[in-house]
Amino acid sequence: MLLDGPLFTGYKLKLMRKTPGSTMILRYVLATAILSGLLLPAFGSASFSPADRRCINCHEDVAQHIQDSQAVHADAGVSCVSCHRDDFARRAPHRGEPEPASCGQCHEAANERHQLGPHGGGEGDPGASCADCHGSHDILPASDPQSKVYHLNVAATCSQCHTASEDFDPQAHVEHLNRWVAGDYADGIHGRLVQKGLRVAPSCVTCHGVHAVRPAQDPDSLVAPENVANMCGSCHEGTKNAFTRGRHGSLQQGGDTAAPGCVDCHSPHLTVATDTPTWKLQGIQECGTCHEKETLTYRDTFHGKVTSLGFVRVAACADCHGAHEVLPSSDPRSPIAPENLMETCGNCHSNLNENYVRYDPHANYRDREGEPLLYWATVFMHGLLIGVFGVFGLHTLLWAWRGWRNAFAWRFGHRSGSDDDSKLN
Ligand code: HEC
Ligand code: HEC
Ligand code: HEC
Ligand code: HEC
Ligand code: HEC
Ligand code: HEC
Ligand code: HEC
Ligand code: HEC
Ligand code: HEC
Ligand code: HEC
Ligand code: HEC
Repeated sequence: MLLDGPLFTGYKLKLMRKTPGSTMILRYVLATAILSGLLLPAFGSASFSPADRRCINCHEDVAQHIQDSQAVHADAGVSCVSCHRDDFARRAPHRGEPEPASCGQCHEAANERHQLGPHGGGEGDPGASCADCHGSHDILPASDPQSKVYHLNVAATCSQCHTASEDFDPQAHVEHLNRWVAGDYADGIHGRLVQKGLRVAPSCVTCHGVHAVRPAQDPDSLVAPENVANMCGSCHEGTKNAFTRGRHGSLQQGGDTAAPGCVDCHSPHLTVATDTPTWKLQGIQECGTCHEKETLTYRDTFHGKVTSLGFVRVAACADCHGAHEVLPSSDPRSPIAPENLMETCGNCHSNLNENYVRYDPHANYRDREGEPLLYWATVFMHGLLIGVFGVFGLHTLLWAWRGWRNAFAWRFGHRSGSDDDSKLN
């Protein structure tokens, strides 16, 4: 019988495994017809090479899909076997296991860069293949709005893996894949702007690079700590310039890891607008992670107490120090240099005089050596407070005791002495 011929045994097994039912019968019939030279499918617009014919005979659906999706490779005349170069594909009937389609021989640059990072599958990482990001038979130019890698679609493509999906398998992925990244980005200001169609807002690959996507620990990565300021600065140029003029920036750019970079203060994915009360309050905590002493003394002041209650009308750290061009008071450009305080405090306080701005926003009453006057004044005030409360407290207690004793005596005397009330008089 035809279907049991030795030529078809291999296919039968494969088809049984993969496509049971009516498609199976159809393919057998099709394959037989083709082998006997009865049928040669023709595709009008897409230019398939004569070599492809053999494949199309059996894989007509693939050819149809390539044509319908107007894949860039169909127009460019890329044949089936340019991508499916392995022995599996070349032999009909197929034998063995197929290898992934290869793209590198034509796209050398992309391929080399892809190999540089974990997506290339180095060191046992599962990686991301060309086809994971680009598709297979429906690849479109990156400039086509339907392309999986079009600027506005990139986040969705990366989110296939870098997301907290229901079927996320931690075994198959490495810990720092960070599955919250995509969700954070979608909620952040950049992601929301891209969703609205703003082309100038960054997609994942604007910050991470297109093919040489590398972890932040790699010094060649665009998001390595020493490169982040320049990367963000490619759009936020003025901010970056202010940052590098300041103390944090000059230290950080010089490789000092104690100084903060852009993403120590701003989340790279859940980047939020900075003119909101939430940000202003968080900003204080952020500075506080490094400047503990100043934050403690700030909390002692009127400004600090009001912000710790959650109100933001008063001054936070950045209102007096600036956010990016942060400089010590000894630097005449600094907003806290003595000669600039009238202007800095004057942004909010009117009718200022020299005396008012001499007020120290970081006065430290705990520091006996550095600020003895304040220290002893505080000790004195505390003593006074304790003394006054102590004396009056004791006085009140004694008073209460006596009152209670009198009342008790009166009641007791009243009851027990009822036989001789006149004694009390
Ligand atoms: C005689 C029919 C026939 C010919 C000719 C043929 N194939 Fe196939 N091919 C099959 C069948 C049947 C399968 C089984 C799986 C399926 O239905 O997708 C298959 C599977 C494949 C697969 C998928 C393997 C997998 O498991 O993922 C690739 C890739 C493939 N063929 C490429 C080619 C290429 C390229 C050519 C031309 C050089 C070609 N085939 C020629 C019938 C054929
Ligand atoms: C631009 C490269 C490219 C070209 C050209 C190409 N393929 Fe593929 N093909 C792929 C990729 C990528 C996959 C996904 C699996 C993988 O990575 O190997 C795939 C998968 C397949 C499969 C498995 C089932 C499926 O549809 O996913 C078949 C069958 C197949 N190709 C046949 C063909 C045939 C026949 C042609 C020519 C008409 C062709 N391919 C042209 C890249 C290509
Ligand atoms: C992690 C996702 C990802 C992977 C993996 C990936 N690409 Fe890309 N690729 C992109 C994105 C995103 C763009 C669009 C970049 C842009 O907007 O300029 C792109 C653009 C391209 C382009 C057109 C622009 C150019 O650089 O020439 C080619 C060609 C290309 N990729 C080929 C490949 C090949 C070949 C592989 C596998 C070796 C691959 N890509 C792997 C995401 C990926
Ligand atoms: C035989 C060579 C060849 C192979 C193999 C090949 N391509 Fe291409 N590719 C081309 C040609 C030619 C073009 C169209 C000319 C151009 O735009 O660069 C193209 C275009 C592209 C583009 C669009 C480039 C743009 O302008 O945005 C992408 C993306 C791409 N290929 C990805 C792939 C991927 C992924 C694979 C493997 C699955 C692959 N190519 C396999 C030759 C090839
Ligand atoms: C098919 C799944 C997949 C897709 C799609 C994918 N990635 Fe990945 N990505 C991975 C895997 C797996 C790793 C390696 C995890 C590891 O070893 O840390 C990785 C690692 C990374 C890393 C390095 C993380 C680190 O610090 O080690 C970055 C950055 C990254 N991907 C960004 C992207 C971007 C941007 C895109 C979209 C253009 C993208 N990925 C698309 C699977 C994927
Ligand atoms: C505005 C720039 C920017 C955008 C947009 C961006 N990233 Fe990142 N990403 C970074 C920076 C900077 C780091 C390094 C953070 C660090 O040093 O801790 C990073 C880290 C990562 C990591 C490493 C894991 C981790 O948390 O350390 C992954 C994975 C990643 N990004 C994926 C993505 C994906 C996927 C997208 C898009 C959905 C994306 N990123 C969008 C700047 C960006
Ligand atoms: C020490 C913490 C800190 C660092 C480091 C930092 N920022 Fe900021 N950033 C802030 C604060 C606080 C604000 C709010 C400013 C305000 O209230 O006046 C801000 C505001 C912004 C704004 C909106 C207002 C503006 O100035 O444009 C952008 C954009 C910005 N930062 C980007 C960056 C970039 C890019 C870097 C790295 C070059 C960076 N930031 C480094 C704390 C920081
Ligand atoms: C491709 C350009 C681009 C890159 C790269 C980029 N941004 Fe942005 N960013 C924007 C745009 C556009 C806005 C929206 C401006 C607006 O609405 O005020 C924005 C807004 C912001 C805001 C909110 C500003 C505000 O008004 O409060 C902050 C903070 C910010 N970005 C920080 C960063 C940081 C940190 C990086 C690097 C990790 C970065 N950006 C990288 C384009 C970019
Ligand atoms: C990641 C830690 C870190 C964070 C966060 C941080 N700083 Fe700094 N800051 C430093 C380091 C380190 C120096 C340099 C100290 C030195 O010069 O020895 C510095 C210096 C300064 C200076 C100059 C004083 C001096 O001694 O040079 C001021 C003012 C300052 N920071 C204010 C701020 C403010 C305001 C914030 C929040 C918006 C902030 N810092 C956030 C680490 C940090
Ligand atoms: C009302 C304005 C104001 C606020 C708010 C403020 N500072 Fe200051 N800060 C100053 C002034 C003025 C000085 C210089 C006098 C001094 O050293 O006491 C100073 C000094 C500093 C110094 C040392 C600078 C140097 O040159 O030695 C650091 C660090 C600092 N502040 C951090 C902070 C942090 C962190 C916060 C928020 C928790 C904060 N400041 C809030 C006004 C302010
Ligand atoms: C962002 C605005 C802002 C900045 C900048 C600012 N303050 Fe204030 N400050 C306030 C507000 C609002 C109050 C609440 C009192 C009020 O309603 O007048 C306050 C209260 C005070 C108080 C306690 C109440 C009072 O009026 O006596 C002192 C002292 C003070 N500020 C000193 C300063 C000094 C000194 C500077 C400069 C180093 C400064 N402030 C910078 C907003 C600011």
